[in-house]
Amino acid sequence: MKKVRKAVIPAAGLGTRFLPATKAMAKEMMPVVDTPSIQYVVEEAIKSGIEEILIVTGKGKNAIEDHFDANITLENNLREKGKDKLLQTVVSTNIPQIHYVRQAYPSGLGDAILQAAPFVGDEPFVVLLGDDVMPNEVPLTKQLIDVYEQYGKGSVATIRIPKESANRYGIIDVDGELAENLHLIKHLVEKPMPQDAPSNLGVVGRYLLTPEIFDILRRQEPDAGNEVQLTDALETLNQTAPLIAYEYTGKRYDVGDKYGMLVANIEFGLEHKETAEKMNHFIIELANKLKEK
Ligand code: G1P
Repeated sequence: MKKVRKAVIPAAGLGTRFLPATKAMAKEMMPVVDTPSIQYVVEEAIKSGIEEILIVTGKGKNAIEDHFDANITLENNLREKGKDKLLQTVVSTNIPQIHYVRQAYPSGLGDAILQAAPFVGDEPFVVLLGDDVMPNEVPLTKQLIDVYEQYGKGSVATIRIPKESANRYGIIDVDGELAENLHLIKHLVEKPMPQDAPSNLGVVGRYLLTPEIFDILRRQEPDAGNEVQLTDALETLNQTAPLIAYEYTGKRYDVGDKYGMLVANIEFGLEHKETAEKMNHFIIELANKLKEK
């Protein structure tokens, strides 16, 4: 069995849910406290033992490449001023094992993943979507790699969702259990109406895939919105190479959504050493005020 060494992070989306902030800025650079959301995802991949990362970018995403590259002027300036801690922080985000490819047209998540075919070659790989920040002692990506090493199967990460939000997720039609938190998959359905959802197991942004997915994506017809959906390709892959739905029970922040982004900033702000104390006081005072209303 080949080792899982490669990760693909699609980051070509237009970020329309955050306009006007994303008119001239990559949504992946929007910070949670002081760290761009995509950095959490890159760190999760590296902590999981991933050696090479491909970020699928597009027009207007240059800041992502700059962020993970050295900034010599800034480094020299911080060094001269003796700001060693900050220098360390800045240097720690220079990550040379990240590669980039551009998706020319906004043709969907499936098409974005297809751009990774030459990078991935003939190896199993993980996909991490930047909209999901999921801090956990054992990173979710590592959990999927462990499942692959134990069962030799690809997987999709899932969580229990409120059924009324089914139309925001890929939903699993379960075909039985393999082990605790490991569900066999009958079908994957992209964003069904809540009344048509076969379960409340929704796909979140981590996938462990095998390279057969690329031929399927090449043949995949776009949907009504002219996008190639990854979920539709997974439905096809599952017929010949059954996937596992891994049920994740840790924390998740949907930073691709205004509300989720605000929640992430509050909770991370309550933990960050420079803001924790002030934020705590502020939240308690605010809660008391809101209760009095
Ligand atoms: C994508 C997938 C969907 C999945 C979701 C997880 O949708 O198409 O199946 O449940 O990510 O975040 P998007 O959120 O990009 O519309």
